[in-house]
Amino acid sequence: MTEHRDRWPSKTIFIFAAIGSAVGLGNIWRFPYYAGKYGGGAFLLPYLILLFLFGIPLLILEFSLGQKMQQGAVGAMRRVRRSFSGIGLGAISCSFLVACYYAVVMAWSLLYCLYSINISWGDDPKAFFFDYVLRASDSPDQMWMIPTPILMALVICWICVYFCIWKGVRSVSAVVTVTMPLPIILLIILLIRSITLPGAMDGLLYYIRPDFEALLSTEVWMAALTQIFFSLSLGIGVMIAYGSYEKKTSDIVKSAYIIGISDAAIAILSGLVVFCTLGYMANQSGEDLATLAATGPSLAFIVFPKALSLIPGAAFFSFFFFLTLLLLGIDSLFSLVEAISTTLHDQWGFIRKEDLTLYVCTFGFLGSLIFATTAGIYFLDITDHFVTIYGIVGVSLLQCLAIGWGYSAESLREWINHVSKWKLSRGWSFAICFFAPVCLILLLFSALYRDIMVPYGNFPDWAVIVMGWAVIAAIIFLGLLFSFLATRKKSSNPFQL
Ligand code: PHE
Repeated sequence: MTEHRDRWPSKTIFIFAAIGSAVGLGNIWRFPYYAGKYGGGAFLLPYLILLFLFGIPLLILEFSLGQKMQQGAVGAMRRVRRSFSGIGLGAISCSFLVACYYAVVMAWSLLYCLYSINISWGDDPKAFFFDYVLRASDSPDQMWMIPTPILMALVICWICVYFCIWKGVRSVSAVVTVTMPLPIILLIILLIRSITLPGAMDGLLYYIRPDFEALLSTEVWMAALTQIFFSLSLGIGVMIAYGSYEKKTSDIVKSAYIIGISDAAIAILSGLVVFCTLGYMANQSGEDLATLAATGPSLAFIVFPKALSLIPGAAFFSFFFFLTLLLLGIDSLFSLVEAISTTLHDQWGFIRKEDLTLYVCTFGFLGSLIFATTAGIYFLDITDHFVTIYGIVGVSLLQCLAIGWGYSAESLREWINHVSKWKLSRGWSFAICFFAPVCLILLLFSALYRDIMVPYGNFPDWAVIVMGWAVIAAIIFLGLLFSFLATRKKSSNPFQL
């Protein structure tokens, strides 16, 4: 497989594709929401510190694994040591789950592009979203219906995803040249519009004014850490797969810095748009800015449509906003599918990549259906919480331990320095062996303690058990089984120069 592996046509396209994956819904609603909830400017500081101490070193780890091994997540971990294959399987299982619910959010964004044309949500975007768009049931117990518009939008999204990646790296390259820069241009247009609105400055000040007390809270640091993971698409096999399409001699360190910094810059830019718009909304409606900012996941589909509908030229800017969301999300979604089909193709090279991608999209579509039902929003909330914390963070922890302790971070560092112009110091190995594992273990245990003491959300127990704990237990079980089955043969030293 290695000799005939597809290649990114250029370094720029590789960087575009990786930024395309990193920049997504996480930047436009998760980041501003966290920034709003955890003290505005004070959130930015831990976020930036952890990005450099932790996010970028882990990104370098994933790129180098893919590039050195020339394999997707499972193959790369297996080449390090056979018993580590299960970690790769854990990563792509998380990819699959995230893809299933991410596609549903994409479907909502697509519908909202259409609803923007006549501002269908009118004066009550909340009722519109829950009652009209989602037909949301009162509890997860009633879920046996899928609203037709969501189903149709979902089919369209999955068909688009399939055609974005059906020719592998070649079609991805063509698509990301549009889907990466275009939303940034749209965001800049939205920023120019929002910053000139009355009240925008109040929003802006709220966003950038630091609240230093928040810096002392471990919760803020933990929130910044999970945000970095989700946003850099770490622990899910995507960056390993993308790295595997680079030539073995390609530079790694500089690309990782460009990608990490661009992702943070776009998150900060989205924050500016969101807070200026919310400032305007607070100014017009008299509502409290802090409350508006902290509405969480509903920010993009309830608060924002409301805010946009107040702006002169509402239909035009709402359409732009949802188009931006759609374009930002689509390359994140297909990167998840690409992570899975790359791994499958590495294992079963005799099956055409197009066919594998078709199977993954079909299963992805079927998996999405549960999140598209009338109870889908509840399931989405639960699965997102469990997969991002225990799945993604757990896989990243295991990756660090596997390379740092189960193999040797120093050997990998030497190899990275051998191919890269910017050299890594021993600090990188320290981050992989000590700093990252300690932070991740703390994060996992504090989350576990919280989830055991106070069950997540206001959901019936069965829903949290089935859509949360059971999903994580299944991933752990599959990973362990896979590692066990793979430990029959011995592996050679993969990091030799
Ligand atoms: N990074 C994407 C975002 O910020 C989400 C994502 C996570 C995409 C994991 C791929 C893999 O929205």
